[in-house]
Amino acid sequence: MATPAALGMRTDYCGTLRASDAGRQVRLCGWVASRREHGEHLAFVDLRDHTGVVQCVVDHAHDVRTEYVIAVAGTVRPRPEGTVNPALATGEVEVGDCQVEILAAADPPPFPVTDRIDADEALRLRHRYVDLRRDRMQANLRMRARVNAAIRTAMDRQGFTEVETPLLWTPTPEGSREFAVPSRRQHGSFYVLPQSPQIAKQLLMVGELDRYYQLARCLRDEDLRADRQFEFTQLDLEASFVGQEDVIGFVSEAVLEADAAATARPRPSMDRITWAEAMDRYGTDKPDLRFGMELVDLGPVLAGTELKALQAASVKALRVPGQGGLGRSRLDALVERAKGLGAKGLVWARVVAGGDGASGGALESPVSRFLSDDEQTGIIAAAGAAPGDLVLAVADEHRRACSVMGQLRLDLGRPPVGEGPPRYVWIVDFPLFDGIGDDGRPEAAHHPFTMPNPEDLPFLESDPLRVRSLAYDLVLDGWELGSGSIRVHRVDMQRRIFAALGIDEEQAQSRFGFLLDAFRFGAPPHGGFALGIDRFVAVLAREENIREVIAFPKTQSGADPMTGAPKALDRQAMAELGIRSGPAPPAR
Ligand code: AMO
Repeated sequence: MATPAALGMRTDYCGTLRASDAGRQVRLCGWVASRREHGEHLAFVDLRDHTGVVQCVVDHAHDVRTEYVIAVAGTVRPRPEGTVNPALATGEVEVGDCQVEILAAADPPPFPVTDRIDADEALRLRHRYVDLRRDRMQANLRMRARVNAAIRTAMDRQGFTEVETPLLWTPTPEGSREFAVPSRRQHGSFYVLPQSPQIAKQLLMVGELDRYYQLARCLRDEDLRADRQFEFTQLDLEASFVGQEDVIGFVSEAVLEADAAATARPRPSMDRITWAEAMDRYGTDKPDLRFGMELVDLGPVLAGTELKALQAASVKALRVPGQGGLGRSRLDALVERAKGLGAKGLVWARVVAGGDGASGGALESPVSRFLSDDEQTGIIAAAGAAPGDLVLAVADEHRRACSVMGQLRLDLGRPPVGEGPPRYVWIVDFPLFDGIGDDGRPEAAHHPFTMPNPEDLPFLESDPLRVRSLAYDLVLDGWELGSGSIRVHRVDMQRRIFAALGIDEEQAQSRFGFLLDAFRFGAPPHGGFALGIDRFVAVLAREENIREVIAFPKTQSGADPMTGAPKALDRQAMAELGIRSGPAPPAR
């Protein structure tokens, strides 16, 4: 508890007064949460600060209105019999004999300062300073601060040194569109805002920092979504002379320390599965393990099927427990959803009682007459389905069949954010390349500095898609919290990877030359990770959108309704920067 001297103009915080304070003279400062007339001469004023609300009994003559900023000096006393408010922490007391000083008048707020009202988001962001007064926003930002503090403690304890890296930088390899800043001194030249401190932190390893971390601001000009902002924060870290297990250990320690600081729950465990298994069982590389509904492989059961719709390289199915009664329009909507996700179609079947299979069920579906009895019982058994369940199946090439069914699994079964015990899972053994691009070259799954798994190196040129990498992700309840990898630290290997990616010598030199140069002067083996703080705090705070854990976020369209940004610069500023505005170029 702070000492009175530390409280500045006040003796106490509003929300901290209790029955045991009765008789004390106090001076409180805060905002008028509400005012109610009490007889001819008195009014009840609920005074609010960030700790809560306390009732003050003030003279009617004081002209105080909602959201005025006032100081109140008075005496704490028990509330009269029958007026105790058990719903309020300070509900047993009130402050009487009050002297009121108005510190600042206030216009009526654009929306009530309460969590019980759902104000329009544009209005909330336009007056974010009022929105921030709400309990929910206060709790979220303070939780975020606890998370940051816990992370710093854990990183310091593990021997990491905090280093700041530049915001005026040059392109980094994360692959999003970049924000550029024109140079006033060199017209036509630009700094690029970093998508992450990726290259800077690798240079710090060459610079013998050994273990670096930073709560780093990152900037990416990408389409905004619930889990994406232009500006966001990473716990960014890098360490020398370490392997994958070490990095996973460092990050787990920091994350679990932050989890404990943010919530009162017991220390959760961390699972681990390979990327291939995550795709196979959950159809995604960020599986939400809070619920089952795992994908099952119907390939063996349907190997010789007559049913054209289920003849493909891979047939993935999903049991939706208890949803066999879904009506035709809901089922049609599911088929449309699957097509929207890239499937050619979706087979659905209700499991009904009957049949002579061991599972005691039969399939009811528009396609059941094309399925033999054995196939029907095989499907029911493979899906682990029982009468009353719905079974969905998609046939396609493996990756697509998995990803479509993985999305349907989320659509049909995912609990709300933060519900139930948390499920952290490390995803390991990512492929080095994501697929083959239009130019016939493989595309880096993570970034081009990721070390291939040494066991797969012989296939780097001959069969690149088979090569696994030393890259790993951390996932919490289906949210990708962060990614990292062991890096390539030798110039010869880096050249080989650039060549596989189709980045020629000249391009490599112009984009990453300074990193390759640094490697010539002695680079230690190193690896690292970046954890998205905004996403992490959103899940901990049970928020579906990271905007709710950011003090001043941008809207979906990238605007800031409060400041009006982005806006035009005046002509002189433009001239100084050597830029002229014109029509936007065609989209890239
Ligand atoms: P990556 O690009 O995977 O890795 O980013 C790491 C984590 O940062 C968060 N994140 C975002 N959060 C909010 N809004 C965004 N637009 C956004 N983009 C990313 C996510 C993501 O998992 N340099 C590498 C890490 C490394 O290899 O060390 C990197 O940045 O939580």
